[in-house]
Amino acid sequence: MKNTTPPGGQEVGGVTVANPLWLAPLAEISVPAVRALFRRMGVGLTHTEMVSSSGLCHGNRATLAMLPRRGEAPVVLQLFGDEAEEMGRSLEIALIRGERPQAVQINMACPVRKVFRRGEGARLLERPPVAEAMVRALVPFGLPVWVKTRLAGRGCPLSTGDFCEVLFSAGASCVALHGRTAAQMYEGTGDRDAVGAVAARFPGRIVGSGDVYAPEDVQDYLSRGCAAVLLARGGVRDVYSTPKILQALGYGGAPEVLNPTPAQRVATLMNLADDMAEEVGERGAMILLRRFLSGIFKGLPGATFLRRSIGTVTDRPSLESVVRRWEQVLVEGGTDHGGSGTVAG
Ligand SMILES: Cc1cc2nc3c(=O)[nH]c(=O)nc-3n(C[C@H](O)[C@H](O)[C@H](O)COP(=O)(O)O)c2cc1C
Repeated sequence: MKNTTPPGGQEVGGVTVANPLWLAPLAEISVPAVRALFRRMGVGLTHTEMVSSSGLCHGNRATLAMLPRRGEAPVVLQLFGDEAEEMGRSLEIALIRGERPQAVQINMACPVRKVFRRGEGARLLERPPVAEAMVRALVPFGLPVWVKTRLAGRGCPLSTGDFCEVLFSAGASCVALHGRTAAQMYEGTGDRDAVGAVAARFPGRIVGSGDVYAPEDVQDYLSRGCAAVLLARGGVRDVYSTPKILQALGYGGAPEVLNPTPAQRVATLMNLADDMAEEVGERGAMILLRRFLSGIFKGLPGATFLRRSIGTVTDRPSLESVVRRWEQVLVEGGTDHGGSGTVAG
């Protein structure tokens, strides 16, 4: 399947996007700095991490910091909660305190026990009337209302397709569907046939999620009728997979992201470090950055040196000196300072 997006963009669920490869909502990962990184890589849309409705209603500072920022469009704000009225109030607060997103999405997908036990996230598949009421509570705000959910498993009164029907009838305009049940968490392989069957029932309104790493994965979801595809663990594992996928789909891409030199990878890391430091301070940024180290330097020699050195770094100048040293050794074809493993995800 090749680029079929018209020059002005494609509309999915009431939002205009340049392409169908999107950064998934990822708790503690899809923070503003990471969303900016993936926009530079070329994704068509980003999601915030899941934002607590209750936290917003209580004016929690950390929760408010998760809201969309200026210049992020198109960005989707993802909310989670257990109750429709509170979710409505939380969106009202989000629109006052943060930038207006292009859509709001309700998390009906999170399987984590703490969330599930409270009747939130994927538990909503067992509570269709509450799920429906949540969508209805957000529709009056005039933003497209989206939902992210999973396959219906044991304990769910409706099939996945019938659950989606309830959501669409209540006013949702797009559903992102992860092809695993809540009980499966993130294990095993996602069921693309099941996602495809729902996509065939609701043409243009289903976004596929699960095991997206390579161009073939994205093409597979699109060929099954999904309107777009979410990049999640695959994006963290290989930050530069986005431009490769987009090029394979016919969307082109800038050379500095398609074939990045070591210096360009270092620049990506330092940009991310600076953006993260603005959000959480230098020390916090160094901790967050470790998650992306493998993904930025994937496939290059020097893994051991970088991991060991960056693991102990607590400020920007030390980070810069470590990566510059690595870059120099690499360019000169020198030894690996303690190991020759490649940096792999
Ligand atoms: C660390 C992590 C955090 C996640 N956080 C969220 C989240 O906040 N909201 C959400 O709807 N899904 C979340 N997900 C699910 C992903 O968006 C995605 O649906 C899932 O990882 C399946 O895609 P993959 O197999 O390509 O990773 C998270 C997944 C991971 C691994």
